[in-house]
Amino acid sequence: MPESPAPEADTPPETRCVLVCQYQSCLRHGSAAVLAAFEAQPVPGVKVEASSCQGQCNTGPTVRVTPDQIWYCRVKPSDVPLIVEQHLKGGKPVEALFNPRIHMRYYY
Ligand code: FES
Repeated sequence: MPESPAPEADTPPETRCVLVCQYQSCLRHGSAAVLAAFEAQPVPGVKVEASSCQGQCNTGPTVRVTPDQIWYCRVKPSDVPLIVEQHLKGGKPVEALFNPRIHMRYYY
């Protein structure tokens, strides 16, 4: 049986990326300014990219952070400093801005 290749020890970790929707509904709700706010606060090792529709149009502007798979909704430019400091630099996502359709909470 052929051996499978050994995993590469020096594979770099996946780059964190902030995807800011720039499609119709999100644009109408100010996502261009949200994208500009992220671009104005660069974080080493984090890419910021405009994205097409992410399927969460009713709760835009939509911002998704990968590979964390954290979805933020109704993001305003004034929310960006908190996301940058607490999540992107501090590693603690901002739960108050989570998209509740994706990050469901259960109350007992
Ligand atoms: S238009 Fe932004 S999620 Fe659909």
